[in-house]
Amino acid sequence: MRRQAPGSSNLQPWEFVILKSEAAKEQGEKVCLDQTAAKRAPLLIAIVAHTDTWRRNRDLIMATFTKRGTLRKRQGTYYRKLIPLVYTNGPLGVLGWWKHLVGPVGSLFRPVPNMMPRHDTRVMVHKSAALAAATFMLALRAEGYDSCPMEGFDPWRAKKLLNLPRGAEVCMFLAVGKRSDKGVWWDRILVPREWVVREL
Ligand SMILES: Cc1cc2nc3c(=O)[nH]c(=O)nc-3n(C[C@H](O)[C@H](O)[C@H](O)COP(=O)(O)O)c2cc1C
Repeated sequence: MRRQAPGSSNLQPWEFVILKSEAAKEQGEKVCLDQTAAKRAPLLIAIVAHTDTWRRNRDLIMATFTKRGTLRKRQGTYYRKLIPLVYTNGPLGVLGWWKHLVGPVGSLFRPVPNMMPRHDTRVMVHKSAALAAATFMLALRAEGYDSCPMEGFDPWRAKKLLNLPRGAEVCMFLAVGKRSDKGVWWDRILVPREWVVREL
């Protein structure tokens, strides 16, 4: 499996959990509320979004650049100073509340980046995880396979089944297999272009 997909700061805050054993697949189907796609597909994969793997991944990225002798000063500052500020919210989330206030107030005076209070950190990692899922879905198509993304699942049972730590959540499940004519339930009706594309 190639593991290349766009991801925020290249921190790859995702994990693909393959429900390989029969028992895990069966439990996965239940967690996916016995949806047809989950039951009919031979393979189920959970795409997990992590808010707490940034330190490990950042350290590996920086160590690799350092070993290669290609770590630039700006890059070091970015990963050492900005990234911890973005991903951490301090004891009892105090820093998170500060970030929650300082962003909108600062923005009244000049453009400021989102410093990511807790709920925005979750959005951030889910964006990257969803893009990784979409990239994987396209790669599957290129290899002649098909997939169905599913957000119709029980998130609490999913977390338990996959044994996820506190900072992790299932972004979606992917049912993977070969397409069946019966698998498409109805035509894809597109809403008008002007509802979804806007020019300023
Ligand atoms: C985030 C996301 C969640 C989805 N959840 C489900 C789901 O739980 N069950 C399902 O059968 N399809 C699910 N779908 C598939 C959509 O219903 C489907 O992509 C959409 O209706 C367009 O149809 P098409 O992709 O077959 O053209 C999901 C798609 C996305 C992107």
